[in-house]
Amino acid sequence: MEGLEQQRLEGFRRVFDAQPQLRVSAAGRINLIGEHVDYCGGKVFPAALNLNCTVYARLNGSDVINVYADDLCENAPLQIARIADYKHIKWGKYQAGVAYVLQQKGVPLVGCDLYYSCTVPFGSGLSSSAAIEVATAVTLCELTGTPYDLKELAVLSQKAENEYCGVNCGIMDQFASAMGKKDKAILLDCKTLEYEYVPLELGGYELIVANCNKPHALVESKYNERRAEVEEALKKLQTVYKNVTCLAEVTPEMFTAAEHVLEGKIRDRAEHVVYECARVQEAASALKKGDIETLGRLINASHDSLSKLYEVTGKEPDALAYAAREQEGCIGSRMIGAGFGGCTISLVKKECAETFKAKVGAAYRAAVGYDASFYDTGVEDGVTVQKL
Ligand code: GLA
Repeated sequence: MEGLEQQRLEGFRRVFDAQPQLRVSAAGRINLIGEHVDYCGGKVFPAALNLNCTVYARLNGSDVINVYADDLCENAPLQIARIADYKHIKWGKYQAGVAYVLQQKGVPLVGCDLYYSCTVPFGSGLSSSAAIEVATAVTLCELTGTPYDLKELAVLSQKAENEYCGVNCGIMDQFASAMGKKDKAILLDCKTLEYEYVPLELGGYELIVANCNKPHALVESKYNERRAEVEEALKKLQTVYKNVTCLAEVTPEMFTAAEHVLEGKIRDRAEHVVYECARVQEAASALKKGDIETLGRLINASHDSLSKLYEVTGKEPDALAYAAREQEGCIGSRMIGAGFGGCTISLVKKECAETFKAKVGAAYRAAVGYDASFYDTGVEDGVTVQKL
């Protein structure tokens, strides 16, 4: 870590010819269970990872916010007076979006140099964009001495992604990034934003994160399409249940009694959401009781539902999750995040972890033709701030 820190500090000095004053990190996340339910008012169960986005920052006395990516070797100079105009740039769009919503909230923007170094792989489903957004929001508040509440910054970061970047995401990723705690999962009610930390005590098991490395394609448009489908399902169910305000309020029993108003794919999408919400409750009680086998079974059921009913997996995440389940010591595996590629998590007996990675790696290569990546992950605090 020290070597990495040195390298980044030197990088900052080389690019900006100055010393940084501040270092802010915000984490990527996993999600134990509760996938594609956050935007339906459901509960999710994420945790912040030790993979993160770190920003080194200093005030530069100008009217430009420089955002430099160390892996792309690219700087986007964002002029504060034109902060609404960067919606179409590739690198720098998330930062501009966050700056824009902060400004609308009355947070003053100041010229600064920001150097980004991310260990959350892009397009991995581990939420690199939320990590960038939250890290940016905290940095801009810190630099201007604006008091902030991390929960509020999570909501503002989501707003930036929805309104500025055009991705209609829910609150899970930004919340996990901002509010994550070491060795804890967050049981978050996405309707009320009430939350509870649950110790991530997995007995003799560990969580293994694997990336299927599928080239990124069309995730955002498919994601927005799913959202529209569940909104349609909700409208239909509201003809039966007038007081229901979101799909997460529909119990499995209510769903069975009313599913005749839904057809085809719309029915399938709603069934996923309703039963996934029920699984989250069960999974949270199982984890609290230390019943890891039940958690594993629910993780498998979640994947099957995402694959067959919600149709957000595809060949690669399916190959990875199903290869995982066949291995000795693995009691659950599923895709996490938006899907259509990205990562899986697997619950694996500690003593089987190394063999698991080797065997799943080989089976995945045989099925797909290229390698999966496995990460050494841990669950950490979401945000850290250090004056330099
Ligand atoms: C993406 C979104 C989240 C959530 C997940 C699916 O990560 O950013 O809001 O909807 O997909 O659970």
